[in-house]
Amino acid sequence: MLIKNIFQNNQKWISEKIKSDKEYFKKLSSGQSPEILYIGCSDSRVSAEELMGANPGDIFVHRNIANMVPNTDLSAMSVINYAVSHLKVKHIVVCGHYDCGGVKAAMQSTDLGILNPWLRNIRDVYRLHKSELDLINDGGLRHKRLVELNIQEQCINIIKTSDVQKAYKDRSITVHGWVFDIHTGQLKDLKIDFDKILENIMEIYHII
Ligand code: CO
Repeated sequence: MLIKNIFQNNQKWISEKIKSDKEYFKKLSSGQSPEILYIGCSDSRVSAEELMGANPGDIFVHRNIANMVPNTDLSAMSVINYAVSHLKVKHIVVCGHYDCGGVKAAMQSTDLGILNPWLRNIRDVYRLHKSELDLINDGGLRHKRLVELNIQEQCINIIKTSDVQKAYKDRSITVHGWVFDIHTGQLKDLKIDFDKILENIMEIYHII
């Protein structure tokens, strides 16, 4: 991808859009009402809209290293607040991916400077699920499982927020944990049983 080609590509994209619908940008600029909030990894290979076949206006997107929803991260919390309380999204997706560099880095004993506190959130996920993860001898499979468990824990972090708890009371909103398999291109629903997971811990986080 050459930086000098980007503006040319943009012009081409505009022409294509207008060719199929003269009013395309007039409609696009009239406002957004996406039904899905997608929280994914910044990894350049996990192109959120493209892999889902989504169009502009379909998805409210937040991406960071390893699709994290840290409890005190103002950026993630603001995105959730806006998407849930103002846009009234019906679904929140945390989409992780195998071969995630962030998850791999968290599995190594390396000092990564400013990344340390960010990756420590993933180390905490490892600690919570240490008994299960330590039983997996194959390093690659252990990485895959940590990717999945990290998605699960970030979904739980979403459910802990007051915005989502309020939304649960007022209307229908669903949290989904998905994983993207970079080796096959396949998107997989982890079908996380939140009711079961939250059964014994919701009393701790319940605020509404
Ligand atoms: Co990643």
